[in-house]
Amino acid sequence: MTFPETPAFVVDVPALRRNAAILREVAEASGARMLLALKAFSMPAAFPFLYARGTCASSVHEAMLGAEFGGERHAFAAAFSEADMRALMDLGLDHVTLNSFAQLRQWRRLAAGHPRGGRTAVGLRINPEHSEGQTPLYDPCAPHSRLGIRRAAFAGEDLTGVTGLHCHNLCEQGADCFARTLAAIEARFGDLLPRIRWFNFGGGHHITRADYDRELLVGTLRAFRARHPHIDFFLEPGEAHVLNAGTFVCTVLDVVENEGPIAILDGSAACHTPDVIEMPYRPRVFLDPAWDGAAEPGPGALRAGAPGEKPFPCRLAGPSCLAGDVFGDYAFDRPLVPGDRVIFEDMALYTMVKTNTFNGIRLPSLWLRKGPGDFSHVRSFDYADFRSRL
Ligand SMILES: Cc1ncc(COP(=O)(O)O)c(C=O)c1O
Repeated sequence: MTFPETPAFVVDVPALRRNAAILREVAEASGARMLLALKAFSMPAAFPFLYARGTCASSVHEAMLGAEFGGERHAFAAAFSEADMRALMDLGLDHVTLNSFAQLRQWRRLAAGHPRGGRTAVGLRINPEHSEGQTPLYDPCAPHSRLGIRRAAFAGEDLTGVTGLHCHNLCEQGADCFARTLAAIEARFGDLLPRIRWFNFGGGHHITRADYDRELLVGTLRAFRARHPHIDFFLEPGEAHVLNAGTFVCTVLDVVENEGPIAILDGSAACHTPDVIEMPYRPRVFLDPAWDGAAEPGPGALRAGAPGEKPFPCRLAGPSCLAGDVFGDYAFDRPLVPGDRVIFEDMALYTMVKTNTFNGIRLPSLWLRKGPGDFSHVRSFDYADFRSRL
């Protein structure tokens, strides 16, 4: 099928397969059980192309989606309501990780009266009190973090029913960050390790990035296994499954001028790629009239540069009323004109899962690219989708 409409997210199946092969290799070499964090990417049409033994969910709805993915189902949230807890037990989750001793007591009480209450392995999320991130927004160990239980809070608590621990403190980070985190965990929580049977080492491992030190990750995990042979361990990356595996395709609607050209696109940073504004970051962009849908620019593509790097500066911005609906300032080999197709790279992760319909702006359509020029339509959105949410 030809590729007719923008804005659109295009997920590149060969790129998914490349990431899946890497994750499988790492899982097999290290003994880690690899999960998919649904929060980063949850397009069911792409599930068959991913490698994971199961999923981790952040809510009941994601846990239900995990059932569609198949395999093991895990869940964690900063807090679950009583209704959430009952629903998770009804779903028969394999593992649930709780964020406080109060939640553990509540879980125990509900599980005691629930027919499937004993089926789910229960763990606690720890705060290793070891930061690897520089941005507080993405650092679960930042001061006053609500994520994970600090060591001191374990004093005098009853661990009955707890079979595992969970730690997530990385964001787009390397194996060196994980190795240091693991050392901090063992230093602070080492006395608990003999009594647990599983450890979930969270997400944020950028395993499929070209310069990621996979040997170090495998070596670190194998050494952990040698020290603690009774502990099964999990990794639950989100991004790594879909890194550099999808694009966001927009069309230039107009070019206005205010101390430089500003291209107004049919895609919105605020509505369709909110992390660009929240994080913030400046996505990579290219132009290519002969684009075949690949996640990365081909030989004929014109990559945008940073301002000053190329002769024609242009700010890329969205159509909404938000003054800050801006993707970033770029420079191109030629001026942008209405009708140009602008392609943002690395847009499969934390995009589709975060879109909104502010201003009633249409949600991007979703596509899978099976091979060069071979697009398959997943779905489009219309007024009914906007209307039905409100
Ligand atoms: C508990 C937990 N697990 C897994 C992930 C997935 O992380 P990433 O997509 O960075 O690999 C996150 C991300 O915030 C998380 O909070």
